[in-house]
Amino acid sequence: MRKPTAIVLFAFLLGIAATCSAQSAEELKDSISAKESLHIDGVIENQKNLSLIQELEKCGNLNLKKENYENFLNSVKLLAPQTTLLILVDKTHSVGTNFDKIKYELYNGEPRLKMTPETLKAFKAMAAAARKDGIKIWPVSTHRTYTYQKGLFDRSVKRNGIEHANKYSAKPGHSQHHLGTAVDINSVENSFAYTKEAAWLAENAGKYGFSLSFPKGAEEITGYAYEAWHFRYIGTDAVEMQDKYFGGSQQKFLEFMHKCVFKK
Ligand code: DAL
Ligand code: ZN
Repeated sequence: MRKPTAIVLFAFLLGIAATCSAQSAEELKDSISAKESLHIDGVIENQKNLSLIQELEKCGNLNLKKENYENFLNSVKLLAPQTTLLILVDKTHSVGTNFDKIKYELYNGEPRLKMTPETLKAFKAMAAAARKDGIKIWPVSTHRTYTYQKGLFDRSVKRNGIEHANKYSAKPGHSQHHLGTAVDINSVENSFAYTKEAAWLAENAGKYGFSLSFPKGAEEITGYAYEAWHFRYIGTDAVEMQDKYFGGSQQKFLEFMHKCVFKK
């Protein structure tokens, strides 16, 4: 990114971050559309926004339709302050021990099932909706410390060999489970993929802000084998952006936020 553009983007995002705590997401959306409407199909009203979109498009190697420009920029601005919720943790990005101590709540009072308060709230809403459809879902693994993940990874290597471990288990520091927003649901057996619970989750989890982290056929992109049970809470606005502009790929969406929006 060129320096002057980076400075404009930085000032922009800083402004958004500052107003965000005082405004609800809906108010923020409304105020942006009112003040900064692009009117792309008519006259380009705001050159600054247009060059910002083009810069982001180039950085993310995206191919946006012009009629989506305004919606795309609104989504970026809305999600720009969510640096923790949308942090990239993958094979090459570690959070170390930074999330060992998180703000958490316990699922059903169980000390081993810690989630961030917003994750738990969304999970409960999702479980209630599932129940109405005759589907029972529950968490089996949630927040993990660095040390706990190290134990899991090392045991997997001993039991199954390094190749298998690398496919199914993250190295310590590299697991989404450190965040307190990742939840393994019902079962971590491959056979879970063929259950009605997995089908319900694949269809409905996004409505509650949960995104399937390691989808089928995405091993090349995520670095992990298909895990039908592993969902990460990223919020409904982020799921919308992931689905609309990144072909439903959480990894691609989070890489974009990391590289083009959060890194100034
Ligand atoms: N099973 C996932 C990759 C983890 O260990 O975080
Ligand atoms: Zn998991």
